[in-house]
Amino acid sequence: MKLQILFALLASASAFQVAPVAKPSTSLEAETSRRAAFAGIVAGVVAPAAAFASAGESPKFSVFGIIGDGGALSEGGAYGSDQPGRGKVYSPYSVYSESGADAKWNQEGGYNGPEYIARKKAVLAETKVRLAKLPAYIEKKKWYEVKNELTRYMYETRGACTFLSKDNLERKEAQVEFFKAIEKITLNATLKNQEACQAAQEESLVKLDAFLKLV
Ligand SMILES: *[C@@H]1O[C@H](CO)[C@@H](O)[C@H](O)[C@H]1NC(C)=O
Repeated sequence: MKLQILFALLASASAFQVAPVAKPSTSLEAETSRRAAFAGIVAGVVAPAAAFASAGESPKFSVFGIIGDGGALSEGGAYGSDQPGRGKVYSPYSVYSESGADAKWNQEGGYNGPEYIARKKAVLAETKVRLAKLPAYIEKKKWYEVKNELTRYMYETRGACTFLSKDNLERKEAQVEFFKAIEKITLNATLKNQEACQAAQEESLVKLDAFLKLV
């Protein structure tokens, strides 16, 4: 029984290591291919490290990137920090090197890059769409939905506004006005104050447009 399990294990392990052998047509060929397959199994199981060695060289290997030959490949050893030319990783848990001037992110301007700013503006555009959904909820007195809408996607809104208004007093003031209008919607939804909630929703759109004009 144990022997059978061992054979099963060997067979499954070899499935990944032995190249498929063409179906033999004669019994002699079958014998040869069986032998070849068995040799493959033995080579794969006993000496995997020798697989990439060239003649005359002693085996090169790196254990976790710490012990052995640091120049050899170690699979994910020390998170790649042993690999030449990679530079220092920015965290021991990362495979990525520290961000430098050659990083694509920095080359494209980082946080001041057009792509990042466009992404934040897109958040505000979507915010407008979400705000427009509120009147339907308010009309049906779905207060839970009103507050859900204000916290679900619009969780991003505050960050986007704060980012776009940094170092700009005028924008900051417009942002505060907009946030206040949002708070009015939330509070009025809690109070189940239908008309006031609707008025606050309209106000929030006006304040958002005012903010958008500045960015
Ligand atoms: C409810 O909305 C009205 C109209 O926008 C606003 O004047 C009022 O302050 C809001 N109530 C609260 C508690 O925020």
